[in-house]
Amino acid sequence: MASFNGKAARRSILRRVLTPSGLIELRRRRKSRGRRKRVEDDPELKLYARMLDKEYLHLGYFDDPTLTGEDISFGALMAAQARYGAMIVERVRSAGGLVLDGGCGMGGLLAPLQEAGHRPVALTPDRSQIAHISSKFPDLPVEHSTFEGLDTTRYARAFDTIINSESWQYIDLDAGLAVVDRVLAPGGRWVICDFFRETDKIDRAGHKLEVFRAKTAAAGWRLIEDNDITPNILPTLAFAHMLGRRLIAPLVDYGIEKLQLKAPGVHYVFEEILAQAGPRLERQLEVVEPQKFAANKTYRLFVLERG
Ligand SMILES: C[S@@+](CC[C@H](N)C(=O)[O-])C[C@H]1O[C@@H](n2cnc3c(N)ncnc32)[C@H](O)[C@@H]1O
Repeated sequence: MASFNGKAARRSILRRVLTPSGLIELRRRRKSRGRRKRVEDDPELKLYARMLDKEYLHLGYFDDPTLTGEDISFGALMAAQARYGAMIVERVRSAGGLVLDGGCGMGGLLAPLQEAGHRPVALTPDRSQIAHISSKFPDLPVEHSTFEGLDTTRYARAFDTIINSESWQYIDLDAGLAVVDRVLAPGGRWVICDFFRETDKIDRAGHKLEVFRAKTAAAGWRLIEDNDITPNILPTLAFAHMLGRRLIAPLVDYGIEKLQLKAPGVHYVFEEILAQAGPRLERQLEVVEPQKFAANKTYRLFVLERG
């Protein structure tokens, strides 16, 4: 890899912000901002997929909730994710039936579902996930759609089980309920594993638990299982928090200091922007701080059936 060259960096910046062709390109890129919808190509999920090197994108299930971030390895995290996947597959109704994996991510559940004799249909709005799944499972039906946008006429009453494995938080509550209502077969089962909000103190990610309960009850759903698995996902948050604090934050500081040393001019141009990196990272780390998460959110494994 070429070493960092301050002079070349300065020239490259000037070319991009001072020449006519640079300015045209700058304008084009600024205009394209927001055109690419996150749900269609999510960079964070792509990052997790690369870090974990396996096909699960959820928080996993640790049997031992006392583990700290420092106790955990990537291997242990992947084993916890497989355990979480197995807990979902165990709850799927009758082998041989059609199962909708709604918000399937990189398709981690698909092979275990097939091995257990089920016929999964994968659904995701994300095009890189679609490309990955289509190449790994060329014969498996794949729906490139949001859950809310699924063709409910084509799949009317088709699924014995619907799974939302850490995807329900992204789906509009009312629209999602209407889809489940139309595509689940009579006597079918709905398995949701995800976090829900109990307060709005940290952020507004996840549905409010009490609203979810009220709306599903009003729509005639019976909760046949309600497992609070919050303690079992906390070690993953502790691991992410530890990596952020002990690896990413020092690496960011290191990069900024190196830039200041090697290219003081470039550092000066970006100094105010770079100064925002630390506080921004702090805010992101707050979201994965285990105690804060547990004080504001709850992670549930729900199994629901019709009245
Ligand atoms: C955290 S990942 C979980 C992936 C997978 N279910 C797993 O357990 O590994 C969330 C998934 O939900 C998908 N998603 C986001 N918005 C969605 C929507 N409106 N409808 C369906 N899926 C959605 C994402 O693209 C991603 O596949």
